[in-house]
Amino acid sequence: MKVLVTGGIGYIGSHTCIAMIEAGIEPIILDNLSNSKLAVLDRIETLTSIRPVFYQGDVRDQDKLDLIFSEHEISSVIHFAGLKSVGESVAKPLEYFDNNVNGSLVLARSMRKAGVKSIVFSSSATVYGDPKVVPISENSPTGATTNPYGRSKYIVEQCFSDLFAAEPLWSITLLRYFNPVGAHPSGLIGEDPQGMPNNLMPFIAQVAVGRRDFLAVFGDDYDTVDGTGVRDYIHVMDVAAGHIAALKIVGEKAGLHIYNLGTGQGRSVLEMLDAFSLACGKTLPYQILPRRAGDIAQCWASTEKAQQELDWHATRTLNEMAADTWNWQSKNPQGYSDC
Ligand code: NAD
Ligand code: WQD
Repeated sequence: MKVLVTGGIGYIGSHTCIAMIEAGIEPIILDNLSNSKLAVLDRIETLTSIRPVFYQGDVRDQDKLDLIFSEHEISSVIHFAGLKSVGESVAKPLEYFDNNVNGSLVLARSMRKAGVKSIVFSSSATVYGDPKVVPISENSPTGATTNPYGRSKYIVEQCFSDLFAAEPLWSITLLRYFNPVGAHPSGLIGEDPQGMPNNLMPFIAQVAVGRRDFLAVFGDDYDTVDGTGVRDYIHVMDVAAGHIAALKIVGEKAGLHIYNLGTGQGRSVLEMLDAFSLACGKTLPYQILPRRAGDIAQCWASTEKAQQELDWHATRTLNEMAADTWNWQSKNPQGYSDC
């Protein structure tokens, strides 16, 4: 079975490609390298002894997509390609809508032309906005997003829902990831943000490896266990496994399938910092700063639907997330620039 993986050498895509190869699924990767490095392909080959077919190109390039579909008998698509920085999306909304929304539409058109009707889309817990109730189930209200990145994910969800309503032979799976963190246990692939990390885990990892002086904790006056923000961190290998389950179980069933990928457990910023200190064997410096604009106090997933319907649940602990991130960061202090 061949699956087109857009954005397949990015952070989540690369881990998923490894899980696919291990599950006997052949990834065909399309990536424009806007946020990834070709060295990832070498690492995938080292880990699996297989070098995936790779096309350098943009998901908005319909000719390129048509060519890929004509050269391979593709059964499904996993669509990771997109821009993902919340702050950048506020400054560059047109770029975000073009890449994330237009890219998804061009892809869907090319799939339809090729007769491929199965897609798994990287959505995000951000579509839930600030939840009134936790844990958040798939039926919770969506759409009250607070930034262009979040809106782009919500709009693509709406586009795909409308496509399914019009053409019910499609299998469309929307996976709403909570907070993916961690790295492959080998330490050969991991998250490699360019410039200043926006997210908590890569920032802590860079403090631990000496690239940053201290962690700025954004607010300690939330109504949470210790006043800091609470999120549902999930190991990227569990996220990868969720894609395999989705492909195998609903990927060939016509329908609009929506699942949360989370652990069902909320953890605070200070809990994550403690777990990382344990992993790297040193106390990490931090300072409490004011809240970050747009942040919510807490969110975590209801995981029942994915457990029941996909027979999938996250298995890796917070300590494993921290240990695997540290293993990756300490072996690759400058990320893939070390290659
Ligand atoms: P990433 O930036 O590491 O990976 C995205 C990949 O897509 C990169 O390799 C990039 O070069 C490529 N890409 C971007 N635009 C492209 C285009 N127009 N054409 C072809 N390739 C393109 O990000 P990630 O963390 O692996 O995220 C993957 C997906 O999951 C994204 O859609 C993201 O919005 C979504 N998501 C991520 C998180 C998270 O916290 N990492 C959470 C929820 C959802
Ligand atoms: C987690 C917690 C921060 C950095 C974002 C996107 C979301 C999704 C995942 C793609 C919060 C605190 C963070 C720091 C800190 N991405 N923090 N100091 O905000 O839950 O989600 O990434 O879909 O759309 O919004 O994740 O890792 O940025 O923050 O104190 O330097 O860590 O305030 O409480 P977030 P995050």
